[in-house]
Amino acid sequence: MFFIFLVSNNEDQRQNDCGVFKFSKPEKLAWLAKHFFTSNPMEVAREFASFWHTNVEAQRLFDGISENTITNFYMPYGVAPNFIINNLIYCVPMVIEESSVVAAASSGAKFWYTRGGFHAEVSSMTKLGHVHFIWEGDPIKMYGFINYLRPYLMDSVRPITANMDERGGGITQIELLYMPEIESGYYQLKVSFNTCNAMGANFINSVLESFAQTLVQEAECYDDFDERERDLQIIMAILSNYTPDCLVKAWVTCDIDQLGCCGDLNAYEFAEKFVRAVRIAENDPYRATTHNKGIYNGIDAVVIATGNDFRAIEACGHTYAARNGKYASLSHAEIKGNTFRFELEVPLAVGTIGGLTKIHPLAKRSLELLGNPDAETLMHIMASVGLAQNFAAVRSLVTTGIQKGHMKMHLNNILSHFEANEVERANALSYFSDKVVSFSSVRQFIEQLRNFPNTPIIALG
Ligand code: MEV
Repeated sequence: MFFIFLVSNNEDQRQNDCGVFKFSKPEKLAWLAKHFFTSNPMEVAREFASFWHTNVEAQRLFDGISENTITNFYMPYGVAPNFIINNLIYCVPMVIEESSVVAAASSGAKFWYTRGGFHAEVSSMTKLGHVHFIWEGDPIKMYGFINYLRPYLMDSVRPITANMDERGGGITQIELLYMPEIESGYYQLKVSFNTCNAMGANFINSVLESFAQTLVQEAECYDDFDERERDLQIIMAILSNYTPDCLVKAWVTCDIDQLGCCGDLNAYEFAEKFVRAVRIAENDPYRATTHNKGIYNGIDAVVIATGNDFRAIEACGHTYAARNGKYASLSHAEIKGNTFRFELEVPLAVGTIGGLTKIHPLAKRSLELLGNPDAETLMHIMASVGLAQNFAAVRSLVTTGIQKGHMKMHLNNILSHFEANEVERANALSYFSDKVVSFSSVRQFIEQLRNFPNTPIIALG
């Protein structure tokens, strides 16, 4: 039972004093309802509160993840079974709000289940970060300074890197890049990391900020610098979410005749049309964007379910898709002789320890469901799900079109909007099984059903 008191003697003052941050959660909710939902504040506050977790400890945990939390925003958590990846079977957790995504991933997984499954391989797991700084002077001297400083830089962050070093990771390279074409006197200290099973954002940023401080301090007393050169100006120190060397490839392959008939197409026609569709995405940025969006439907859902950072994953993937100067498809398909091959290569900087992966109870369960994989195996799984998703989407597009598969879920969502009961739903599913679903056609159907319950359904069209 939750109590929310909307009346407070200094409420108006509270709206102005920017002190919302200091309120308790019920106070925040009361403040919000009173000032932004003026026509029905009690009802709104009650609705927000109805999504609080009944377990107080669990709720405290969720509140602690972010700031100014007033409630929880639910997302559907589904599973896609039957994934064979590198000869192991997985039931993959997927958190996503878009209908048909889990169904498409499952259908892609099932299709390849009997055709050798998915294969995946990580080529490298390097993460990157930069200290961006300005220094005016002879670049040769700056290179000399960094060479002199390199061992000291490594030693200076030993307290931060000790644990990671013990796990076999840490800093793998420190390079100096001079880029006067961007800014006069602009340099980057480019640092490469192995963060083992962690995504490693905090670790990387801590190291970089410490490096930045050391650079400034050491420049001030470096013997080879004159007075002017002792002034090294840090612009910023931050990891890069572009990790082209944290790369995984997933692929499926089979004899063309094993593909079987797809809709009206025989296996060969299907394979050719499929490859053509992918070639369009390889060359046309408009199609590539939608094509890649389909891939991220699958990847993001697993990224979210496992408590990883989907903004980082997407940002990186889209930069990678444009690495050759033009935005293009992340997946590729080919027919060689009698063999069909479809593959996806994508950078995925994810972790299985640290961050939300061990805080969010369902992220922990997702990892357990996947057999507590290491980061490399999780990359295999995510890339395979992205490929399955992409395969299912393109297969639908070149055969039936996607609306057919989407319509049942779409219809369900519209029926939920009209608060349809079980009988109305059953009637609607039967009626629309061979018709185009639109918001207005469903509304018309429901209205007719409610106003004239005895009218035969056949008369509604
Ligand atoms: C819809 O969310 C994703 C698709 O548009 C992807 C695609 O077109 O390849 C179906």
